[in-house]
Amino acid sequence: MRTIIKNIKELVQVERQPKLRVCGTDMAHIETIKEAYLIIDDDKIAGFGPMSELGEQHADNEVDATGRMVFPTFCDSHTHMVYAGSREIEYIDKIRGLSYDEIAKRGGGILNSAKRVQEASEEQLFEDALQRLDMMARYGTGAVEIKSGYGMTTEAEMKMLRVIRRLKEASPLTIKSTLLGAHGIPMEYRGRQEKFVDLVIEEMIPQAAAEGLADYIDVFCDQGFFTVEDTERMLEAGARYGMRPKIHANEMACSGGIQVAVKWDALSCDHLEYTGDAEIECLLHSATMPTVLPGAAFFLNMQHAPVRKMMDAGLPVAMASDYNPGSSPSGNMQLIVSFACVNYRMVPEEAINATTINSGYAMGVSDVLGSIAVGKLANLYITKPIPTFEYMPYAYGENKVEQVYIKGRRI
Ligand code: NIG
Ligand code: FE
Repeated sequence: MRTIIKNIKELVQVERQPKLRVCGTDMAHIETIKEAYLIIDDDKIAGFGPMSELGEQHADNEVDATGRMVFPTFCDSHTHMVYAGSREIEYIDKIRGLSYDEIAKRGGGILNSAKRVQEASEEQLFEDALQRLDMMARYGTGAVEIKSGYGMTTEAEMKMLRVIRRLKEASPLTIKSTLLGAHGIPMEYRGRQEKFVDLVIEEMIPQAAAEGLADYIDVFCDQGFFTVEDTERMLEAGARYGMRPKIHANEMACSGGIQVAVKWDALSCDHLEYTGDAEIECLLHSATMPTVLPGAAFFLNMQHAPVRKMMDAGLPVAMASDYNPGSSPSGNMQLIVSFACVNYRMVPEEAINATTINSGYAMGVSDVLGSIAVGKLANLYITKPIPTFEYMPYAYGENKVEQVYIKGRRI
């Protein structure tokens, strides 16, 4: 089936020679075509160019995008969007002055969500997550990485991963699954954390691998959570089963998480509020995508990762939502683009690169998603009538997306 989108006011983020990621000063550039057309054959982008070059073309379906722009959908490379129940009570505790660390230490936070996930049925978790995915797609997201991590027992972790597998089957979005067995330390393992690490290594990783449930492995490597030594043991075990790491690092302190990510050739290391010169230097010689989560920094009122410094040093930067009930209860990537500009002083072009091609890289899909390029999957959105592409981050809070196409089909 052929669809032609005509009279596109501006076709944004086109690539003629696709790259897997965009680094440093190149992040400030995106290519666009004004007064453009786009051709979709079945699930893929088959062509694009200026309207003046379209000529006679047969199409099964013609869409008139007059006044509207077309963007590739967002890739959301870091989420915890399978969960049970919200946590607004802790949010109030935080407003009253308790820190994330303090809430975690008294059994709230991740442990609170773990208890609820353990009690929830697989069916309920699936239904709730499917609704959230639908909402994310309506805001322009076309690919999502989803982590386990609210299980804390082998059984509940496998339940979460099976939910993610069902989401992969039920949703048209591209989904990647990550085993985050080491997200928090259960109460009964406090003071003997290495035993919990043993459980992750001896049970969770082999079972997830046996059922083919995890594309990647994650560890919350940070002050007050898992140490660099714990992390190395788990990443080594994951590597034996072919699970590439994507790790939580340097949210609480310069914890060595970035160095261990690079050492184990992680696809990404995420959060990065505490990133110094040594960490930047280490990342420069790696294939690891530094990924910043502006929603969590906003919601927890944390210091911001030194994104400008990272890009000036030549690094690529990706951004994702971190959608989860504790630190970022929103999967709206349009807001992330606005936060990127306001809180990290990125120009709109940099924010778009961070949330499309670079976040695509951070979840291992930038060969098929993350830009408008011939042969890539036709995951794109048509905006409402907007004056410029810079209006996307500028008009924060409203949904500027009007129509979403996933694998060539309107949803
Ligand atoms: O990415 N930092 C660790 N984990 C999550 C928070 C999860 C939670 O609070 O439930 C995050 O922000
Ligand atoms: Fe996270």
